[in-house]
Amino acid sequence: MTGAGQDVPWWQKAVGYQIYPRSFQDSNGDGIGDIPGIIARLDHLADLGVGFVWLSPVYASPQVDMGYDISDYRAIDPAYGTLDDMDRLIVEAGARGIRIVMDLVVNHCSDRHDWFLKAVADPSAPEHDYFIWRDPGPDGGPPTDARSVFGGPAWTLVPELGRYYFHQFAPGQPDLDWQNPDLRAAIHEMMNWWLDRGIGGFRLDVIDLIGKDPDASVFAEGPDLHPFLREMHDAAFRGRDTLTVGETWSVTPETALLYCGRDRDELDMVFQFEHVTAFHHPERGKWDPLPFDLPVFKRALFLWQEALRDDGWNALFLSNHDLPRQVSRYGDDGEWRVRSAKALATAIHLLRGTPFVYQGEEIGMTNTRFTDPDEFRDIEAIGHWAEARARGEELEDFLTGVNANGRDNARTPMQWSDAPNGGFTTGRPWIGVNPNHAEINVAADRADPDGVVAHYRRLIGLRRDRRIVSHGQFVAHAEGHPQVMAYARELDGERLSVVVNLCAQPVSFRVPKGLEVEGESLSANVTPRTQVRGTLGLAPYEAFAVMGPGGESGPG
Ligand code: GLC
Ligand code: CA
Repeated sequence: MTGAGQDVPWWQKAVGYQIYPRSFQDSNGDGIGDIPGIIARLDHLADLGVGFVWLSPVYASPQVDMGYDISDYRAIDPAYGTLDDMDRLIVEAGARGIRIVMDLVVNHCSDRHDWFLKAVADPSAPEHDYFIWRDPGPDGGPPTDARSVFGGPAWTLVPELGRYYFHQFAPGQPDLDWQNPDLRAAIHEMMNWWLDRGIGGFRLDVIDLIGKDPDASVFAEGPDLHPFLREMHDAAFRGRDTLTVGETWSVTPETALLYCGRDRDELDMVFQFEHVTAFHHPERGKWDPLPFDLPVFKRALFLWQEALRDDGWNALFLSNHDLPRQVSRYGDDGEWRVRSAKALATAIHLLRGTPFVYQGEEIGMTNTRFTDPDEFRDIEAIGHWAEARARGEELEDFLTGVNANGRDNARTPMQWSDAPNGGFTTGRPWIGVNPNHAEINVAADRADPDGVVAHYRRLIGLRRDRRIVSHGQFVAHAEGHPQVMAYARELDGERLSVVVNLCAQPVSFRVPKGLEVEGESLSANVTPRTQVRGTLGLAPYEAFAVMGPGGESGPG
């Protein structure tokens, strides 16, 4: 068993909160969220008890992909504020015990970055070799048939040069050539520049792509990935008390410890997406999602609990800025909205790992309903609509997919109150506010002692205060049960039993032996329970956790 002692890294007892700055809080009425807006709302986060913020990109950017296309790594986009604002955010958050973990996009930059401008202007400039250039293929077309994530080829021709550059994402996001040691050194230097300003670490965007070999059509987890990460660790993280979490869509339980095993010196943890992609259509992907299936969902999450049982560390999440709202995806955003939001939170927050809350999740914000392509702001949805339309697809079918899984669902503004635009802005918001803000908002939820915020505050506190929550061993139960997610955590003769009905129907649940416990109610969304044994009648979306003597080394 690892980390049961008191002396554990801070991020093993902390909960993160992701801020999507464009949609969090606007302070100057231009309709775009900004850093002064975040500072004005820090007390909300402090009251929730989160230990750190994952801040989606605020760097200078033409916003082709909403900041995931950086044109200057050492400047703040004027829409978001200034470097002084950023320094103030670090200090103000720090004063509330919150660290700022910055989102860093180094697989690619923007085609407006000085490096790319120089690379195009002069092929003999050192910056030219910061990017991946290839001659046209034999037919004069792109060098390979690689496709970009946002639609179209992954190669774009620069006519003046007669050569193509590679971009895994939009043409405005040229991939950096990590094979070039000068590029790597420039990135490391920039990372140290930020770390020296006092940030708490980095979330590393699509970091599993940096070791790619595009000529062999190997993109994710390429041959040089781990040497590059080890080098980055040596150059930037060693000896610092930071948190590093990699976004890795391709990681598997077999490869996870290569990133975050304790003897690896690479990253602290990675985001895995198995519980997300399990519901993507095998051919048509995210735009044709499969129906929610609890045993599949549990299998993915439990597999990862087992895989990182003795080494490594899980990053726990259901939502982020690329995913639909969790209460709409995995819960019930109608009649059981509040209760299912709490049930999902209970299920995730009592697992072993570091939970991440996405802005608005803590009040049970829902997906929105797009009825017209003009409402999309996301390059991914816009690109896929263009392709679908060219294929002759019906708008209605396309909207079904986008409404289920489009990224703009998560990007509608934070709903603070029932004021116009949910209190997000006094101007015209850059993307429509969900009309349900009149009912679903922070002020209304907080006014209810049984609101979703109160439930999150409690779960976050449990992780901070109870070692069994942060470091207890995970034990899966009732794995095949179609309605109930159940597991135990065990530490030093104690057992924490977690039972969640993830359905809108009541269910009678026979408690397996290893889940039995009697003791203290740590969390409940219907009525507190102090006993888990026999056959329990569970209400729709009922979730609870009970702690008492038990477990391998305990009397029970
Ligand atoms: C990551 C980001 C996503 C972005 C992509 C390209 O997946 O989370 O928002 O579009 O990388 O940078
Ligand atoms: Ca603004």
